[in-house]
Amino acid sequence: MKIVVIGGSGLIGSKLVPKLREHGHEAVAASPNSGVNTVTGEGLAEVLKGASVVVDVSNAPAWEDAAVMSFFETSTRNLLNGEAAAGVKHHVALSVVGTDRLSGSGYFRAKIVQEKLIKNGTIPYTIVQATQFFEFLKQLADISFDGKKVRLPDALFQPMAADDVAGAVGRVAVGQPLNGTVEIGGPETFRIDELVRRRLAPLNDSREVIADPNALYSGAKLDERTLVPGKDARLGETHFADWLKSSASQPPTAKLPSAAVATATKQS
Ligand SMILES: NC(=O)c1ccc[n+]([C@@H]2O[C@H](COP(=O)([O-])OP(=O)(O)OC[C@H]3O[C@@H](n4cnc5c(N)ncnc54)[C@H](OP(=O)(O)O)[C@@H]3O)[C@@H](O)[C@H]2O)c1
Repeated sequence: MKIVVIGGSGLIGSKLVPKLREHGHEAVAASPNSGVNTVTGEGLAEVLKGASVVVDVSNAPAWEDAAVMSFFETSTRNLLNGEAAAGVKHHVALSVVGTDRLSGSGYFRAKIVQEKLIKNGTIPYTIVQATQFFEFLKQLADISFDGKKVRLPDALFQPMAADDVAGAVGRVAVGQPLNGTVEIGGPETFRIDELVRRRLAPLNDSREVIADPNALYSGAKLDERTLVPGKDARLGETHFADWLKSSASQPPTAKLPSAAVATATKQS
């Protein structure tokens, strides 16, 4: 089966493409680096030719409210139109657990629009909502740093390893479209500040990390369980302590658009 992975060079995409190939699929990594741009449409019709499935694991290069909205709206419209023309039979998109509860955030308003376009479109689809990636914890500290302390919401989350995310997305991609949403998460629930502290320690990052009831998550106010998936979530196998000991935890972690630091710091 030809499976096009939009964002195939990213954190999740670069783990997903080899997994699909190992299972005998013709997985094509597509992103601006390989001449496919879902915002301008460059290379899109060409790469979608003969594809049965499209997996969208792309992310916006800039996270200011207007930029991120423009990215997900334009990119998703272009993709769905291109898929209709090419006869694609399954659109899979990676989103975030709790997206619909996070409309206080510009980033998540853009993810809500992305999900709506998919749900209202004509291509059979599955939306995979994942919890935060272990690989994102350092970045979370950076965007939550006010110059003195790392201030995090006083709430729970259930993060997971990027490798488990890629595995779960891959299984969805080769299955039937659900025309619905599945949640995936990690095997354990933590307080956000506790886990960020545990992530920074082996990096010798001595910034003080605190739970602050007024701290926002990407600009949104959290309740205790806003980021926690429901009881039907499919859970990854990798425990945080094992991930921390593994090579996957070695820096550098996921790249961070510089605009995100400014935006998130301003909001929290
Ligand atoms: N961070 C988390 O904890 C978390 C949790 C749950 C879900 N998610 C979701 O997971 C998804 C993937 O995140 P990630 O961290 O794997 O992303 P990432 O590492 O930042 O990679 C982003 C990818 O998007 C591609 N891209 C950027 N602009 C593009 C364009 N105009 N056309 C096509 N591709 C474009 C990039 O291509 P180039 O390399 O060529 O620039 C890159 O391959 C996101 O949608 C995010 O919402 C994230």
